[in-house]
Amino acid sequence: MPDLRAISLAAIYGTFASLASVAGDIGRGEVVYKGTCLACHGSDGGGSLPGVPDLAGRTGPLSQADAVLLRRMTAGFQTPGSPMAMPPRGGDPALTDADLNAVLQYMRKEFLPAR
Ligand code: HEC
Repeated sequence: MPDLRAISLAAIYGTFASLASVAGDIGRGEVVYKGTCLACHGSDGGGSLPGVPDLAGRTGPLSQADAVLLRRMTAGFQTPGSPMAMPPRGGDPALTDADLNAVLQYMRKEFLPAR
């Protein structure tokens, strides 16, 4: 007879591991945001320097597709006439694509009102 206790423990650990990895991405995103992005974008995403857009709000920059935002975060980006550019990888070339993905998840969670 199979050991039901072992099976249910495995199921519990499996669920836990996948929850932990989502939480881990957002946690990593928070570290990246606070370390690299906060100086220009502010703790509430509202922007702390002239030329930095307000990221918060459902119709703001974060309403664009992930692919658009990730490309701009990776390569850098400047709206014509804007006094300041978004630097590639926020100015930290050590940030990986996974880091940028994690920080995007973090920003969506923090700066967009719940549906
Ligand atoms: C040196 C200041 C600075 C830093 C550091 C910085 N940004 Fe930006 N960011 C900007 C500016 C300025 C813009 C607006 C550029 C424009 O529209 O001309 C911008 C725009 C953006 C946008 C909106 C893009 C769009 O499509 O409108 C996102 C998303 C973003 N930044 C994410 C980040 C993330 C994530 C980090 C950290 C990894 C970061 N930024 C670090 C200055 C900065």
